[in-house]
Amino acid sequence: MKRVAILISGGGSNMLALVRDMAGDHPARPVLVASNDPAATGLEKAAALGIPVAAIDHRAFGRDREAFEAALAEKIDAASPDILCLAGFMRILTPGFIRRYEGRMLNIHPSLLPKYPGLHTHARALAAGDTEAGCAVHEVTAELDAGPILGQARLPVLPGDTEAALAARVLTLEHRLYPKVLRRFATGDRTPVLLD
Ligand code: GRF
Repeated sequence: MKRVAILISGGGSNMLALVRDMAGDHPARPVLVASNDPAATGLEKAAALGIPVAAIDHRAFGRDREAFEAALAEKIDAASPDILCLAGFMRILTPGFIRRYEGRMLNIHPSLLPKYPGLHTHARALAAGDTEAGCAVHEVTAELDAGPILGQARLPVLPGDTEAALAARVLTLEHRLYPKVLRRFATGDRTPVLLD
């Protein structure tokens, strides 16, 4: 049974989708939900489901990113995860941290990567007049939002779509895509999952 640690920064809707899917014949189970923000409401949702939680407030470390990551890694390693899932985790990780987990760390990003790495993905898609948008799951590597694609889901941009409306539709798609990717990845299969 693969052990999965999930990193969040906020509401953790993607974390909940992953956790709810890790049941029955699923080859993985959640062993930790950790956040850089002690106030992340996803932490109490995970705790209510009986999942061990941890919070390392990155603000307590000021500009010392490495010290924050060392404290976070200590909590993560104590849970001995096989797989790390970033899910709405909003801190950029240093190459040193990534190297510790490279090859077994996934992230979900709200765009059709390699388009729109970084922030404000929906606003950028709308501004570009794209007729399609979506989300992608990728392996985390030192380059931001640029690792091998493990899954992609796309949907049409609708006339009059606002950033909020598009973000909400893509988020629902994320909740379908990420669990499917984790199921497949946990069996050692890196064939991309494609949804549309
Ligand atoms: C989502 O847009 C996701 O794509 C991004 O973080 C946002 C919030 O995710 N990674 P969640 O609701 O905290 O899972």
